[in-house]
Parts: sequence; structure tokens; C-alpha cells
Amino acid sequence: MIKAVIFDLDGVLVDTAHYHFLAWQRLASELGIEFTEKENEQLKGVSRMRSLEIILDMGNLQLSQEERNKLADKKNKWFVQYINQMKATELFPGVHELITSLRQNGLKVALASSSKNADTVLTLLGIKELFDVIVDGTMIVHTKPDPEIFLLAAKKLNILPSQCLVFEDAEAGIQAALAAGMKSVGVGSPAQLGKANLVLSRVTDFDTSTLKKKF
Ligand code: BG6
Ligand code: MG
Repeated sequence: MIKAVIFDLDGVLVDTAHYHFLAWQRLASELGIEFTEKENEQLKGVSRMRSLEIILDMGNLQLSQEERNKLADKKNKWFVQYINQMKATELFPGVHELITSLRQNGLKVALASSSKNADTVLTLLGIKELFDVIVDGTMIVHTKPDPEIFLLAAKKLNILPSQCLVFEDAEAGIQAALAAGMKSVGVGSPAQLGKANLVLSRVTDFDTSTLKKKF
């Protein structure tokens, strides 16, 4: 029986995944590397440094650690600029209601994001108080597809991994949920997220009756 729901942030609750993409695309274009939404799928859910490595590999570029740090900082500065212009209305419609109803039905709710900017995004959107537990990229060593972040969320919730349901828009996130021994709902395309127990177009296509029927 599912006792807790763990939400990814970027691309699940809010369209910040698009801002990550725009910032990476801007960096890739400066480096002369072609980078489209298709290549971007590989970056979803993984850390900032790993994302940069994937882009550099696409362009066959080998750079020193110092140069890589500079590029990662540059991308992050752009991302922070984008999110600072974000409005609270960019939270996907129905998210507030979904989380509130899950909690009213006795479920615990956590947020688990690989991003070191998660706290800023949650504060800008004014939704920190919706979660029993928040874990982000500043609290872990290994990012998704490693299960560390989800296992930490379960531990803080005091719920067994097998009783947790993860919502993810990233292939790496679904792999992490599987590795953690958790059930998962993919938010996005079945082609990308086929390993999830259920795939929906939007997180708000889910409700407590879907939970009872499918899990
Ligand atoms: C994840 C995003 O949530 O966080 C990735 O899906 C991003 O695209 C990662 O690279 C790390 O984010 P940040 O904000 O720490 O650079
Ligand atoms: Mg995501």
C-alpha cells in the first residue's frame, strides 16, 4: 500500500525544465554545439556537472576542471535569471489541489529534486509548506539515476521505499525510483518513460481514485 508520494520538481510541478533547457542551449550555442530538446532528454534529472559533461561530449570538447566550473557557473547564472522572472502562476494548474488532497487522504508528501536551486524555486512559487519533507541537490552525493535522493526522502518521511510512489519527468528519475524499490508515475511521453508503472501527460491527471485503482 502506498503511504507517501515523492514529487520531482523541474518539469513535474513547474516548467522550470524548460529554463534549464534554454540555459544549456545558450551555453551549447556559445560552444558551437548543436543542442535540441531531443538531446536535452539525457540531461533531465542529472546534476549540473554531469549535464555539462554530456554536452561537452556531444561536441568532443575536452576542458580542464577550472574551465568546466566556469561554464557550469555561467549556465547557472542564466538559469537563476530566468527563474527570477518566473511568476507563481507558472506552477502547473492543479498542483496545489492535488497535493492538498493527497495529504487530506492521509498520505505523506515529499519533494526530491537534484537541483541546488530547488529551495529558490519553491520559495519563489510559495509552495514550501505543501511538503512534509524536502530533499534537494545540496543534500546528496549522487544524483539520479542513483536512488540516493529518493531513499533519503523515504528515510526522512519514515516510510518504507516500497510504500512510496515517485512522480518524475526524467528517464534518470524513473531509473532512480526503480533502483530505490519504489513505484513510479512518469509525467511526459511513454516513449521516454516506459519503465514507469504508469505514464501520464500531466501530474494533475492523477488523483486519489487513480491511486486506489492502479497502486
Ligand atoms: C534537475 C533538472 O532537477 O536538477 C536538471 O532536471 C538539472 O536539468 C538538475 O541539471 C541540477 O540543477 P541545478 O539547479 O543544481 O543546476
Ligand atoms: Mg524533472
